[in-house]
Amino acid sequence: MDEFDLKGYLSRRKQIVEEALEKVFPTASGLEKRVVEAARYSLFAGGKRLRPILCLAAAEVVGGDLWPVMPAACALEMIHTYSLIHDDLPAMDNDDYRRGVLTNHKVFGESVAILAGDALLTEAFESFASCVGAGINPDRVLEVIRVAVKASGYRGMIGGQVIDLECENQKVSLATVEYMHIHKTGALLSASLEIGAILGGADRERIKALRAYGHHMGLAFQITDDLLDVEGDSTLMGKTPGSDAAKNKMTYPALLGVIESRAAAKEHVDSSLEALSGFGEAAEPLRAIARYLLVRRG
Ligand code: IPE
Ligand code: IPE
Ligand code: MG
Ligand code: MG
Ligand code: MG
Repeated sequence: MDEFDLKGYLSRRKQIVEEALEKVFPTASGLEKRVVEAARYSLFAGGKRLRPILCLAAAEVVGGDLWPVMPAACALEMIHTYSLIHDDLPAMDNDDYRRGVLTNHKVFGESVAILAGDALLTEAFESFASCVGAGINPDRVLEVIRVAVKASGYRGMIGGQVIDLECENQKVSLATVEYMHIHKTGALLSASLEIGAILGGADRERIKALRAYGHHMGLAFQITDDLLDVEGDSTLMGKTPGSDAAKNKMTYPALLGVIESRAAAKEHVDSSLEALSGFGEAAEPLRAIARYLLVRRG
């Protein structure tokens, strides 16, 4: 079998996601336009678009069409971008660069950055709802909204973010850091797959398998994010390495060192691949994405 061209796949998918995002989150001209400008600044600053790409891939692997799922894929990217804007705020990680440009609050000020995040989060739910107009059964859309709420709220990403802040300058167990990573990053990544699977018309078994893939790849993703903070290149990452150590964040490398953290990431990538064992060649993009985590530089 020819090797899967992941680079070409990711770049084509990124392009269609960006075209769709442009329609979902257009420019505004009213008196409120500053907050829209700020939201668009971060939304279109770049980014790998991994969550929408995973969502679309999950829909396809269960035999669903791409286009009715696109509004949900865009919604996931909007939630993710909001989380980045807020994560970078002085009251949180206090970072200056994101996606290769100055962070939102550095350009627009803290108050507009907070509101830009709020706007992205809120509009995301309009976008999820519009999957109904794109032809998806309303019951499935409702289920997807529930999954998105759980993954992004205090039972998911927000929960993980608060643990992350509370763990600064603390000595905590590996189990705590794993729990934090599963919530702050794994939850939305795993939900991206689950949402794609639900909208693609998957049965319960396939939804469960894709959720399991997402769980492990999500953990591997945050472990490799921690590793990049230690040994990554700012140009390739678009953000400043060393940020975690400067704030004495509890990360995998802080607890286990680089070598053992790499081994932990590899274990989770292997588990994510195992979760896909019931899928055939159609799951090649998902397999390639998981493997790429171990060598990613951005
Ligand atoms: C960064 O996410 C934040 C984490 C959850 C680690 P990404 O690395 O996916 O950021 P973008 O979207 O490519 O900018
Ligand atoms: C952030 O984790 C996870 C989010 C929910 C945004 P990090 O704080 O490690 O993400 P980066 O390194 O700033 O992208
Ligand atoms: Mg953070
Ligand atoms: Mg951060
Ligand atoms: Mg990080």
